[in-house]
Amino acid sequence: RTGRVAVIGSLNMDLVVRAPRLPQPGETLAGTAFDQVPGGKGANQAVAAARLGAQVGMLGRLGQDANGTQLLQAMQDEGIDCSRIGRDATHPTGVALIVVDDASQNTIVIIAGSNGALDTAAVEAHADLIAQADVVVCQLEVPEATVLAALRRAHALGRTVILNPAPVTGPLPQGWLENVDFLVPNEVEAAALSGVAVDSPDSARRAARVLQQQGARHVLITLGGQGVFLLPPADAAGNKGIDDDTRGTHYPARRVAAVDTTAAGDTFIGGFAAALAAGRPLDEAVRFGQAAAALSVTRAGAQPSIPYFSEIQPDAPQTSAP
Ligand code: RIB
Ligand code: NA
Repeated sequence: RTGRVAVIGSLNMDLVVRAPRLPQPGETLAGTAFDQVPGGKGANQAVAAARLGAQVGMLGRLGQDANGTQLLQAMQDEGIDCSRIGRDATHPTGVALIVVDDASQNTIVIIAGSNGALDTAAVEAHADLIAQADVVVCQLEVPEATVLAALRRAHALGRTVILNPAPVTGPLPQGWLENVDFLVPNEVEAAALSGVAVDSPDSARRAARVLQQQGARHVLITLGGQGVFLLPPADAAGNKGIDDDTRGTHYPARRVAAVDTTAAGDTFIGGFAAALAAGRPLDEAVRFGQAAAALSVTRAGAQPSIPYFSEIQPDAPQTSAP
């Protein structure tokens, strides 16, 4: 069946340059290519969920500028319900400045623009979007108060709630995690949230345990080429107590020839959300998200790199990470 996914979050125009390596402070470096492509963590996750099988609606805010018009068109072309994407009269559309190097690593600086003007009133006005969804997905590229209002509303309505805490600078404020079913940070975000340096499945397990002690339920840490670590709630059927340090599952990543890792995490989350919304088991949803993310890494650009349902082979054997 087709599940319904609601995304409350950001849309950005990504200004992407390729360079042999990431520049040093004070350095001028000659790059090799420039591209302007639709991005933003919220929009990327919405596009991923839509391409990967879900019926998707998004709440967000664009500027009344050419970037906003282009981003809106891109979302409409995906069949996403954009009726709750507003146009802000005073702020320009959000942008992201991205540098991608020859090792396919990136650095990203975002300017929130109109994303920063998505307020709690918008969540209240469009609460029907949340009410109609099976799965609700939020990130941190719109104001904290807006995210918290969406998480609370979704949790109160009994929706499955996914929070991708990105970008993040420190621990989440009190009162957030109790509204979240799946906390999905990458290794950098998991470290910022937990205080545990994360660079391996084992350290991810330690960080996930700290996050559960802070109140998280499922913790799903994405580890790039090292795959994903899932720590289910301590009280989930078949699981042992919170103090058991063997809990959790490591899902190795498929080996791929990486071109650009931008939006790999967003693709994982969108695919995972679409699969959960369709009623697929957790284990399958994780593997489906991983298969989609692995494909996205082999292609350039945020939204252009996100694969379609028909491209995914969820039953392909998982190979070990390098
Ligand atoms: O996660 C990737 C995204 O982060 C980019 O598309 C960029 O817009 C930033 O939001
Ligand atoms: Na990509």
